[in-house]
Amino acid sequence: MTPAKNPLVAFGAGKVILLGEHSVVYGYPAIAGPLSIGVVARGVPSRSCVLDVPVTADAAQKRMMRKAFARAARLVGEPKVKVTLEPQLPLSAGLGSSAALAVATSRVLLQAAGQAPTPKETARLAWEMEQEFHGTPSGVDHTTSAEEKLILYRRVQAPSGATGRARELKSPRPVSVVVALAGARSPTKLTVGALRERQARWPERYKRLFGQVGRLVTDAAKAVEAGDLEGLGDAMNVNQGLLNALGLSSPALEDMVFRLRSMGALGAKFTGAGGDGGAVIGLFSEPEPVVARLTRDGVRCFASQLAGPRAQGDIP
Ligand code: MEV
Repeated sequence: MTPAKNPLVAFGAGKVILLGEHSVVYGYPAIAGPLSIGVVARGVPSRSCVLDVPVTADAAQKRMMRKAFARAARLVGEPKVKVTLEPQLPLSAGLGSSAALAVATSRVLLQAAGQAPTPKETARLAWEMEQEFHGTPSGVDHTTSAEEKLILYRRVQAPSGATGRARELKSPRPVSVVVALAGARSPTKLTVGALRERQARWPERYKRLFGQVGRLVTDAAKAVEAGDLEGLGDAMNVNQGLLNALGLSSPALEDMVFRLRSMGALGAKFTGAGGDGGAVIGLFSEPEPVVARLTRDGVRCFASQLAGPRAQGDIP
């Protein structure tokens, strides 16, 4: 393999799950959308195929990143490129940083190997990395990041090697969320593992709850496509109640959910893994004043538009 000739730059978007986290692992649908921030990967010619890990990562994260990188690099013939990562979003906050990292890295590796970084090829390679990070992920995170669209996703094992089926959800109205961080984050592996133990012990009870989340997701997809933000917000609120019933919420997450609702959110819930803390989303038709107020109060937060028409001059 010859060294990569030109510097390569690629972006992997972070993600939020609007509805359906956790039950998506068991084959039920979820809705997820890309964030405008994520991870930037840069590749420069090098004597070997090597990853320069971000300084902000802790020792365990660095070890995992190197292992995941080696797995993906082997699959594209270890092109001679040094990949540097610049995370724009907090690592391990439930915002899909590992998927964003996997997608950005895969795009650089594919280009360095002389292959086109199509969403399909990118997702295939990123999936290999995601398995190192998460064990048995549903695939919703890296698919959302690679597609960069609001999607209705369902996990399936396709003969093509695809991990799931994704369909774009278009909205006639802007679907915008405020993302706020609360409490101390629990690792995804822990919350997914603890839920797996509970559902193995009481399978019928948990199946019923997953089924209810699945039906909410179907309703919410229709609401998105009809531009019915009130209907979407209500589905998000009910989903939060079910996530709590599944044993996945905590006082820090609930406090932020109620805070966003008291600030006028049409719907609010945690997004991603849940547990002791992490990210909470609120659906707002005007998110900017909410971000300004929360920021003044010391809350780490930002706004992101996930779908729908954009105001002129907006960065997609
Ligand atoms: C994590 O972002 C979402 C979970 O549903 C896990 C997964 O889908 O693999 C909690």
